Amino acid sequence: MLGKDKMLIMGGKPLMGEITVSGGKNTAVAVIPATLLSDEPSTIENLPDIEDVHALIEILNHLGVKTEYVPDQYLRVYPATLRDCNVPFDFTKRLRASYYLLGALLGRGGRAEVAYPGGCEIGSRPIDQHLKGFVALGATIEDRGGLVCARADRLTGADVFFDMVTVGATVNVMLAAARAQGTTVIYNAAKEPHIVDLANFLNSMGARIKGAGTDIIRITGRPSLHGTTYTVIPDQIETGTLMIAAAATRGDVTIHGCIPTHMESLTAKLLEMGVRVTQSDDSIRVRPQYEQRAVNIKTQVYPGFPTDLQQPMTALLCMANGTSTVCETIFEQRFKHLDELRRMGARIKLVDRTVLIEGVHEMYGAPVTVTDLRAGAALVVAGLMAKGITEIYETGYIDRGYERIEDKLCSLGADIRRETL
Ligand code: EPU
Repeated sequence: MLGKDKMLIMGGKPLMGEITVSGGKNTAVAVIPATLLSDEPSTIENLPDIEDVHALIEILNHLGVKTEYVPDQYLRVYPATLRDCNVPFDFTKRLRASYYLLGALLGRGGRAEVAYPGGCEIGSRPIDQHLKGFVALGATIEDRGGLVCARADRLTGADVFFDMVTVGATVNVMLAAARAQGTTVIYNAAKEPHIVDLANFLNSMGARIKGAGTDIIRITGRPSLHGTTYTVIPDQIETGTLMIAAAATRGDVTIHGCIPTHMESLTAKLLEMGVRVTQSDDSIRVRPQYEQRAVNIKTQVYPGFPTDLQQPMTALLCMANGTSTVCETIFEQRFKHLDELRRMGARIKLVDRTVLIEGVHEMYGAPVTVTDLRAGAALVVAGLMAKGITEIYETGYIDRGYERIEDKLCSLGADIRRETL
């Protein structure tokens, strides 16, 4: 998929109008494997039509599970036909979240063999906390030729204390514990909105999960779960990317169908920059102010500033008035977009994990290459605010996590097209 086309952005056009955000990627990739915890069919609505979702559906089909997918409407999963628990690297290399098959298959049948995941290269991404959680629940783990083999005759609820706040391990232990015998308590759990959404999804299947959204989650295992129909929450990061793109082009954009409370850390920073942001129950409007001021940002776990918006925000700050700093505390190598932004005229220096950005008056289009999903979002933002044409290569990374991004931006007045290579 990667490298199949290039994106051409004719920059300098203010985004104007109204747009509706898609369903959340990081909820989608947790909820789809979670359907395997029941024998009964489940229906998921509001899934984003993105490559990560397509890859997970192919994995389910590979495992013998029947699916019915109508993009932008629903995915129906029929898990009763599951006949395999082995997911080879050919599948897992396509997305990081393939590791949720470990928790889901272990929780369902006590056996999972899943190749180590691929996904975006944004620094070392170990899964020791996931495995530690499975072991606490009574599983044995064996590392066999690139496969993680997890087995348990019976999973038993236990206390799991994570060494750091980790979204992935919190999800995986919730999946494995949902049908374990007894109660599991996760300490130092992640609090991201998609953790709460996964808990709501599992509870709608009959699970008993309390405390999601706080740092202690209690899961009382149930012998079986039933099928459900569920609508996933809107994508926090797509919403943020659109807010940043609106600010970057000095546009006036109203984003509908979002959850403004999930966006507080970004909204606060945009207001600090001088961008006008107003909100209602489920929409956010971003309008320009004459001057955009430099700000300092540090990525943190939710409700702090999300690492997934660090790269697009860095692009926006390239043209703010003054010197900004952006400190990345979650992924040590999430800086591969910086060289590309420099090609477009940005004045940026990286010192340890902090980007120093000296705002410039003008950026200009250049050929640039995407190295990971959110680097792609950063280059789209930069392309929208630059003069001239930006040619973006390796657009497949963007399609992993954004649903038809160019269609959405063009509906707001951007000039973007794709050319097949
Ligand atoms: N970590 C460990 N050991 C573990 C797990 C994590 O050391 O067993 C470390 C990581 O190396 C990292 C930190 O803990 O330094 C946090 O990692 P986390 O587990 O929270 O991240 P993740 O589950 O790999 C998910 C999202 C990412 C998002 C992060 C942080 C999915 C599929 N991925 O990754 O999303 O950046 O949480 O919020 O949900 C993206 O959407 O572009 C993306 C990369």
